Amino acid sequence: MTGNVPLLTLNDGNKAPQLGFGVFQIPDGETADAVAAALAAGYRSIDTASIYGNERGVRDGMQRSGVARGDIFLTTKLWNAHQGFDETLRAFDESMQRLGTDYLDMYLIHWPTPKRDRYMDTWKAFVRLQKEGRIRSIGVSNFQPDHLQRLIDESGVVPVVNQIELHPYFAQRELVKAHARWGIVTEAWSPLGQGGDLLKDAVLERIAKRLGKSTAQVVLRWHVQWGHMVIPKSATPARIAANIDVFDFELTADDMKAIDELDAGKRMGPDPDQFN
Ligand SMILES: NC(=O)c1ccc[n+]([C@@H]2O[C@H](COP(=O)([O-])OP(=O)(O)OC[C@H]3O[C@@H](n4cnc5c(N)ncnc54)[C@H](OP(=O)(O)O)[C@@H]3O)[C@@H](O)[C@H]2O)c1
Repeated sequence: MTGNVPLLTLNDGNKAPQLGFGVFQIPDGETADAVAAALAAGYRSIDTASIYGNERGVRDGMQRSGVARGDIFLTTKLWNAHQGFDETLRAFDESMQRLGTDYLDMYLIHWPTPKRDRYMDTWKAFVRLQKEGRIRSIGVSNFQPDHLQRLIDESGVVPVVNQIELHPYFAQRELVKAHARWGIVTEAWSPLGQGGDLLKDAVLERIAKRLGKSTAQVVLRWHVQWGHMVIPKSATPARIAANIDVFDFELTADDMKAIDELDAGKRMGPDPDQFN
């Protein structure tokens, strides 16, 4: 069950909700409440990572919600320090224990960490875990075009998603185009620009006022109409509910263009070529 959230078909044939719930920076002890609130509001996709330290909270929230495991698309990520074939197999088992599940819907390499240069071995472990049926879909995060090219050339396995920083102030057009050529779904992290200045932007305020929506809803709708997978985070119940309520209105072509023009090419997070 996914309420009114559309499903995207991934390049391995699996389907995933277009809009999910991110839990970065929610303390483990508060994560169960947030995840339970999200599942009650209709979210059926949860995005965590071992480095977030809240996989147990995600488990507790899923259990408390009463939503069947099979109805939830669960994603976690392999942390940089655990890259490498054997290390990945170990880190995966540890995440699964914390999450209290025997399969993952999606596992992502969190960062390429090019200096470490272990993402090929890491990817081999991902492919093995997928063959064993322990992961349904495998993908990456923060990969640049040359990292994707190498991954695909050397393994022959195209990741289903690349989860990247993407919001109207940092729209990543070239990378999005490259994803489309490979059949990779673009998944947007910090889709709301971390709730900062973006949500007070005059262009967004004008559109939001006309539509009777919040600027956050307008931004999320922009992502949806671009076809991105999107995972807004909030620990505030009213915002959790509002952020999934973006499927009963549409932005016009002019609205889309006006928001597209906000792109300033500025990252908020680390540069994947430098981050190790
Ligand atoms: N792969 C990666 O390297 C990576 C990096 C960063 C994030 N991510 C993933 O992407 C998810 C989302 O990114 P993010 O957490 O960085 O940023 P975000 O979703 O863009 O923004 C979250 C911030 O916006 C606020 N907010 C949420 N909804 C709002 C609304 N309707 N109105 C006003 N403010 C609102 C939240 O405040 P409250 O919580 O106080 O409501 C929070 O401070 C993360 O949780 C994580 O799952 C992945």
